[in-house]
Amino acid sequence: MKRILVTGGAGFISSNMIRYLLQETEHEVVTMDALTYAGNLANLADVLEHERLRFIHGDIRDLGDVTSALEGVDVIVNAAAESHVSKSIEQGGGEFVTTNVVGTQVLLDAIRERPVDRFILISSSEVYGTAESDPMTEHHPLNPRSPYAGTKAGGDRLAYSYWCTYGLPITIIRPFNNYGPYQHPEKVIPRFIIQALTDRPLTIHGNGLASRDWLHVFDTAEAITAACEVPLDAIVGETINVATGVDESVEEIADAILAILGKPASLKHHVTDRPGQVDRHIGSTDRALRLLGWRSSIPFADGLERTVRWYRDNPDWWQSVMATEETAQTVV
Ligand SMILES: NC(=O)c1ccc[n+]([C@@H]2O[C@H](COP(=O)([O-])OP(=O)(O)OC[C@H]3O[C@@H](n4cnc5c(N)ncnc54)[C@H](O)[C@@H]3O)[C@@H](O)[C@H]2O)c1
Repeated sequence: MKRILVTGGAGFISSNMIRYLLQETEHEVVTMDALTYAGNLANLADVLEHERLRFIHGDIRDLGDVTSALEGVDVIVNAAAESHVSKSIEQGGGEFVTTNVVGTQVLLDAIRERPVDRFILISSSEVYGTAESDPMTEHHPLNPRSPYAGTKAGGDRLAYSYWCTYGLPITIIRPFNNYGPYQHPEKVIPRFIIQALTDRPLTIHGNGLASRDWLHVFDTAEAITAACEVPLDAIVGETINVATGVDESVEEIADAILAILGKPASLKHHVTDRPGQVDRHIGSTDRALRLLGWRSSIPFADGLERTVRWYRDNPDWWQSVMATEETAQTVV
């Protein structure tokens, strides 16, 4: 049994990860979240009082917050981030740099003073940019195309440098695109589902052919948990894709959501593409299988159907998230 600090616990991936750790393992979990617009305690409502979970309202950029959260911690999973590609394109890199790069640096320097058994950085497949090979291995060049992706690449390589320079027990995980329950309505799959549920147009940027390797968040939680548990020697200093090896286009996703909900294809609405977008992503799955003993187990069609059901059955959750004007504008 370990004590695992999962940062960004009120966000999408970390809240699912925490639920997974509490339900499927014996580990204790500490989570720290700054509760930005993307952080929502309702994502943890059913587990917040769990005896093996402690929630701290704090900021990874603040050394004092980080130092107190580190008390008794064996493993850090740093998933706190500014995570919305479009927001970074519209607003520039400011907050993205401070949380995704500086926040990572504060955590890394904190563990030089107060060592932990391992530090797992949740990076992103967005660091690769558009695929130059298919599938993309961990050796694919880093060509981040948006300010979000640039800052994720910065945090990713900074963590790597702390392994090289100081011998810290760092592992870098690069998840491909996630979907599932509790994902903020600003992201494309929940946005399409909510637009279809409310009979509003599903706005598709560009020709709809941009494709991604979509991974159900339960699969991601399982992979990150494996990274917390496998022998450290197998993964220290390594960078590992977490992917399915299959891609789906935006258009195919819109069609599938409309079909699941029995809505007409005429709800699809094409709008001009945004700069800085990536065309195609498919991740290599070999290294995750070899080092983590993990491969994804939820086929996209099943995962999407479960996700559509979750949003259909939990309107209170997404309606309250969308009650903020900023979010409502991203969905209408
Ligand atoms: N969602 C995806 O498809 C995807 C894919 C690959 C990688 N990732 C990475 O996975 C991680 C989680 O992504 P997500 O989609 O769950 O994001 P999210 O936006 O849903 O959650 C991020 C959480 O971090 C918190 N946070 C932001 N700044 C903070 C700070 N300075 N200190 C403490 N907490 C802070 C927010 O309040 C929020 O709860 C991120 O690192 C992201 O880059 C996400």
